[in-house]
Amino acid sequence: MLELQEVVKVYLRENFRHEVLKGISFQVSQGEFFCILGPSGCGKTTLLRMIGGYEKVSGGRILLQGEEITGPGPDRIMVFQTFDQLFAWQTVRGNVEYPLKINGMARGERRERADFYIEMVGLKGYENYYPHQLSGGMKQRAALARALALQPQILLLDEPFASLDAQNREILQEELLRIWNSLKPTVIFVTHAVDEAIILADRILVMTEDGDIKMIVENKLQRPRRPGMPGFARMWDFLYEQVRSSRWQAEKRKN
Ligand SMILES: Nc1ncnc2c1ncn2[C@@H]1O[C@H](COP(=O)(O)OP(=O)(O)OP(=O)(O)O)[C@@H](O)[C@H]1O
Ligand SMILES: [Mg+2]
Repeated sequence: MLELQEVVKVYLRENFRHEVLKGISFQVSQGEFFCILGPSGCGKTTLLRMIGGYEKVSGGRILLQGEEITGPGPDRIMVFQTFDQLFAWQTVRGNVEYPLKINGMARGERRERADFYIEMVGLKGYENYYPHQLSGGMKQRAALARALALQPQILLLDEPFASLDAQNREILQEELLRIWNSLKPTVIFVTHAVDEAIILADRILVMTEDGDIKMIVENKLQRPRRPGMPGFARMWDFLYEQVRSSRWQAEKRKN
């Protein structure tokens, strides 16, 4: 469904050519939960932004259903890590309805659609709250509802739970999996937490620190997954070592 072919990204900074992504190729299938795991600064957000169409590729191609991505579209929606992605002057319902309104949906229909997804993310009763009246976890739920309401083909999630405390993170991971199970969207989820990738993903792409693919691992652990279950610790050790050694290799190349 989604195919990246030799995708390169270069940023120019004061005559210095910084090659952030070094020719990345992979495919994601319809309905798959795909995690991108890698150390800070390896280019995860850049990669997601290019799939979203917010950022141009410097080389290679990104194809969605065989068509090259040239800009943003309602078929791909991104949710970010930060709590400030909601419109501060709009209620939860207003936030969820806003993109539907932009897309020309009639008032009654968008109200109904918004309330459906607000309930799905567990925010029923909070429709009229403003972002400053919500906890961090509730804000991320609202951002997720806003993205889901557009019924995108691909959900692009950039460390959406990284700013939450451990307990809330766990709850939201479970809820996201429940939603994924019922709607089966294609999800591309960026994280630098090994445990999160194992709990969520069908496949895990491990990036090297210098913007390349280290490996793509299939996650065969049975769902639902818990850190204590058989096989979890072994997978964690393996992936952690991959992330760690990719960092070290990048360090060696720099010197
Ligand atoms: N607009 C930009 N202009 C110049 N350089 C950029 C730009 N955006 C990102 N970079 C550089 O690209 C590299 C990758 O950044 P990116 O934000 O994609 O990393 P990341 O893997 O998401 O990191 P983190 O885990 O900390 O979020 C960094 O070295 C960053 O400085
Ligand atoms: Mg990032």
